[in-house]
Amino acid sequence: MALEFVGDAISLSGPTGTKLKSEIIREYYSFWWNITSGGAAKNYDWPTAIIELDAATGEAYIEETKETILGSAGHAVNLKCSNTNTHNLKIILVEKHPECYNHLKSVIERRWSNISVAQAEGPIYANHINVYLFNDTLDKAISKIATIKLGNSLFFFDPLRSVPFTTIEKVPQSRIKQFYQTGTEFIIFVFIIFLAECFSRPRLVSVRSNRCCRCFSDPSFWIFENCR
Ligand SMILES: C[S@@+](CC[C@H](N)C(=O)[O-])C[C@H]1O[C@@H](n2cnc3c(N)ncnc32)[C@H](O)[C@@H]1O
Repeated sequence: MALEFVGDAISLSGPTGTKLKSEIIREYYSFWWNITSGGAAKNYDWPTAIIELDAATGEAYIEETKETILGSAGHAVNLKCSNTNTHNLKIILVEKHPECYNHLKSVIERRWSNISVAQAEGPIYANHINVYLFNDTLDKAISKIATIKLGNSLFFFDPLRSVPFTTIEKVPQSRIKQFYQTGTEFIIFVFIIFLAECFSRPRLVSVRSNRCCRCFSDPSFWIFENCR
């Protein structure tokens, strides 16, 4: 299936699909950062990172309603740019598809012109803006990300169809070295078939996936966290 774009936005399906997902992610990123950064009491100072492994373009076009909304990567950048005290929040965006990646850069330049795209995709050691862009395969990107000091981190896998578990596992392998080590969280968005199953047979799902720790109020959307 070919990638389709409307302007810079990736064309994705559904007001109750992509649109709802983006809204949930927007709320959760903000909720998560407010806690993991130490909050107001700590001046939001603790190092944190949101890592989008399937960033797409930062904008999504909803065919049915003919509207362009912020995608998950757009919400991550927006969280950083529209709040004060976010200097210690790192936003890391990975997009393997070259055309998609170019649109992502255009979206950032158009919407958040204070972010230097050149620096974001430049060498890690020279990055002072704490926004990183990678046009790499997941495996390569995860190896590079492992060299960045992240702090409390949220890794979001959002593949269109699937992601090899061996790839996901590289993240805890590089970050979780002791029992009960905290500071690494996962959102792995599984789509279509599995969600349809969630919806129609929740009992079966709860048996199969005892790692499901958070379910948002809409029953057709479940987010699985801390899956290892
Ligand atoms: C669903 S998109 C991710 C969207 C992004 N996380 C968001 O919420 O805006 C997932 C990934 O699928 C890839 N992909 C591959 N083929 C695609 C297609 N035909 N349509 C949409 N995405 C496709 C893109 O490169 C992208 O990284």
